Amino acid sequence: MTDLTRQQAHDLLTKYVKGEHYITHSYAVEAIMRGLAKRLAPQDEELWAICGLLHDLDEETAPWREDMATHGPVAVQILRSEGINNPVLENAIMAHNPICGKNPETTLEFAIIAADPMSGFLKAVAQIYPDKKLASVKRKSVTKRFKETRFAAGANRDFMMLIEKTGISWDEFIDIAMASMLEIADEIGL
Ligand SMILES: [Fe+2]
Ligand SMILES: [Fe+2]
Repeated sequence: MTDLTRQQAHDLLTKYVKGEHYITHSYAVEAIMRGLAKRLAPQDEELWAICGLLHDLDEETAPWREDMATHGPVAVQILRSEGINNPVLENAIMAHNPICGKNPETTLEFAIIAADPMSGFLKAVAQIYPDKKLASVKRKSVTKRFKETRFAAGANRDFMMLIEKTGISWDEFIDIAMASMLEIADEIGL
């Protein structure tokens, strides 16, 4: 449970993250997390959404280009400095980047580590289409591109496959992620 509202989380995000690309990425992961929560933990939908929204809170603050292990712990420091102490949120943020020393263990943590690369991957697949619209993307082409290791190579396939640890199949994950991102397609430029 969280006492942090979506509005407060959004204010925090825009206070620490300015890049439009990072903001739309945060919205996309939030949307997928919301979709996954509806299926896996309906009572915690707001919390799951907030975890998605804030997972890269330290994107412009942590020195991750020099040390990837700072990405996650710095976000936790920011939250605490803002008076937010929420172990579930903290662990979810840390778990999306296991290099920082926190491996995913809970359903929420497996969901976020899978949702993060999926958001960018779906965007990359949409870019192939003449209209560049996510609405044009079929599940089959997502799976086909997934197997092409050189396509969107930055999207960690192993992390995406961790969705199966939540009990959701690969096919269902694609359907949920696409439907969730489509709901905010205009907002995220898809
Ligand atoms: Fe990240
Ligand atoms: Fe991310």
